[in-house]
Amino acid sequence: MTKYIGILTSGGDSPGLNAAIRGVGKAAVITHGMEIIGFRDGFRGLMENRTTQLTPEVLSGILTIGGTILGTSRDKPTKMPIGDKFVDMTDLVVENYHKHHLDVLVCLGGGGTIKNAYGLMQKGLNVITLPKTIDNDVVCTDVTFGFDTALGIATDAIDRLHSTAHSHHRIIVCEMMGHNTGWLALGAGIAGGADVILIPEIPYNIDVVAESILRRFRSGKSFSIVAISEGAMSTEIAKKFRTLQEKLDKTDDKKKQKKIKEEIAKVEALRLQGTAALTRELEARTRLESRVTILGHLQRGGVPSAADRLLATRLGTAAAQYIADGRYGILVAARGDSVEPVPLENVVGKRKNIPLDHQWVKSARDLGICLGDK
Ligand code: F6P
Repeated sequence: MTKYIGILTSGGDSPGLNAAIRGVGKAAVITHGMEIIGFRDGFRGLMENRTTQLTPEVLSGILTIGGTILGTSRDKPTKMPIGDKFVDMTDLVVENYHKHHLDVLVCLGGGGTIKNAYGLMQKGLNVITLPKTIDNDVVCTDVTFGFDTALGIATDAIDRLHSTAHSHHRIIVCEMMGHNTGWLALGAGIAGGADVILIPEIPYNIDVVAESILRRFRSGKSFSIVAISEGAMSTEIAKKFRTLQEKLDKTDDKKKQKKIKEEIAKVEALRLQGTAALTRELEARTRLESRVTILGHLQRGGVPSAADRLLATRLGTAAAQYIADGRYGILVAARGDSVEPVPLENVVGKRKNIPLDHQWVKSARDLGICLGDK
């Protein structure tokens, strides 16, 4: 019996998505004799029944292209923006899955996508997810596709910032993506030879950061490169978050919860201005001219690296094999040179932070890179 696969890409786009779509699609059609349709713009396309047949011809020539040929969105089945409201459209999504006689829905995405796919699984659908995100924050997989390309772009940026920082005797603070984890900033910071690396996992003390730059200056280095993750925060902000979170955990009172959540949002807004504020503060304390560079979406765009193409292809073709074997409800995870099916229960709602004893952290400290805490 021919199996029918539906596939969608959801959440932020990521280099390697097309390689993964091609990997699943070509292996499914050519090797396993299945059929595959793509849904446009993530779960929204499944809800709105916007599809495209993924024949080998359509899948041809997309390996090297960035972004996703299917389009993506952050829309969730349970909270779909309809007009000016958020509506739970799960039932329609489930109905459309059955309307297409699908045997499985393959969802390419990060933490949010996995949560949504898991929700559909609880409604009786067969789902398989592949770990995609430049943030590398999905648990139970060695790495996610998109990370290697973004890491290369961020490292190249640090390389380029060196010559201009050096020429002008400046501090240049370079902000990188990564959401609430520091994989990109730490990886690119080490690979690019940054002098200070600030990540969410290690709240920073501004005195420590300024002193490390002044120490460099006194030793004859008149410039410094600071790699900072968008989620990094000072020890004061981290303490405010902790205190508010503890308060929130202790109360069942809805009114009080609402107030605390508002306060958390205010602290979050402060944290978001963190990079600019940090740069101004460093300039004031060190009297060295300082500039900010925010890499933003540059890190997600363009051609995927060879490593990401390979990883996405490896996971995609393995997903087709799991479908042929009837193995559903899993994340197709990368483990060393092989691939492993991890039950979604073990993955959902979790985030892979950098462990404080991770080798990258140790290497950075051994090199004398300031991580903002000591
Ligand atoms: O999760 C990927 C990511 O690029 C994060 O690093 C970043 O915080 C976020 O997406 C940006 O989202 P958007 O593209 O919706 O602005």
